[in-house]
Amino acid sequence: MLSRRTSCIGWSARRWIAAAGSSWPATRISRITALPRCIHGWRSSAPCLPTSTRICACSRISHADCGCVTTSCRLVAADADTWLVLGASAALARAFARRAADKGARLLLAGRDTADLADAAADLRTRFAADVDVIAFDATAPETHGAVATRLAGEKRPNVMLAFATMPAQREMEHDPGLAAATLNANLAGAAAILLHLLPVLESRRGARVVIVGSVAGDRGRRRNYVYGASKAGLHALASGCRSRLHRAGVSVTLVKAGPFDSAMTFTRTGLRGVVTVERVADDCWRAAQRRRSVVYSPAAWRWIMWAVKAIPEPLFKRLDI
Ligand SMILES: NC(=O)c1ccc[n+]([C@@H]2O[C@H](COP(=O)([O-])OP(=O)(O)OC[C@H]3O[C@@H](n4cnc5c(N)ncnc54)[C@H](OP(=O)(O)O)[C@@H]3O)[C@@H](O)[C@H]2O)c1
Repeated sequence: MLSRRTSCIGWSARRWIAAAGSSWPATRISRITALPRCIHGWRSSAPCLPTSTRICACSRISHADCGCVTTSCRLVAADADTWLVLGASAALARAFARRAADKGARLLLAGRDTADLADAAADLRTRFAADVDVIAFDATAPETHGAVATRLAGEKRPNVMLAFATMPAQREMEHDPGLAAATLNANLAGAAAILLHLLPVLESRRGARVVIVGSVAGDRGRRRNYVYGASKAGLHALASGCRSRLHRAGVSVTLVKAGPFDSAMTFTRTGLRGVVTVERVADDCWRAAQRRRSVVYSPAAWRWIMWAVKAIPEPLFKRLDI
């Protein structure tokens, strides 16, 4: 009994420290995850639901009526959704992962920097008692794609969030066409390659959701950003094709055309207007996926802005310095 109590205090302390502020250094938070987990819920003889596993997260949700030995267990369904996040160290991917973890989803964080992702996973475990795994993935390294698909195939209710991209300055790409090719390779060819690996897995799981992060830059090629814009325009077409292919399998594909938001990608860019927080875009992604929307703009006002931009006649558009 004493050891149970001790472990629960350890868990409460972790939650308290996580809630005390995100200003805590990441290393400090990940060291805290080494504390023992509260296991009250697991010890209960009668499960709350036949398909559920109980994990005590001291979250003040009372399940006293179901025979649980404590009154503060969090239910984590054994058949919870799993979100595979591709490019999981992107600011948007991190914010999306936090939402998914908060809703009780399992997470597979896929990206190039696995050490950074391990820290992110530890943080999600601390804050949300989430079940998180890390997997190596590089969009431009096809040899990493098979393992990602195999890992996803092991999940009962797989979902996919595709968030990776790179956006070098247009001027740099004009001086170095190789850089332009690399951008198209990562953003478009890489996306096509990994999606073609994942589609058979998703087709076999009715009800799965896919979120693909596009950009308003893909709606019309502009002088200041046309290579990145072209990669996103291609991604939009890819998303549309995947949506048609997966429709009969009951899988939704949501394309989120995002406007500029606060992240490493826009950090050094000047002259950007209407920059919003990454949390706002992550909320839009989450909500659109839950509603199984096909195409959304984030923030929504971009739908009308881009409608106007697309309506500008080409003879005039080519004269604009935008
Ligand atoms: N920020 C904006 O204003 C904005 C606007 C519209 C759309 N978007 C789109 O929103 C998504 C997320 O953007 P963000 O600003 O959050 O991104 P970010 O913070 O700049 O991060 C981009 C991520 O893409 C990953 N990545 C790049 N090349 C990769 C590759 N070959 N394989 C695997 N991962 C790769 C990077 O991984 P490493 O950490 O390993 O480099 C990084 O984690 C992107 O698709 C972007 O195009 C962004």
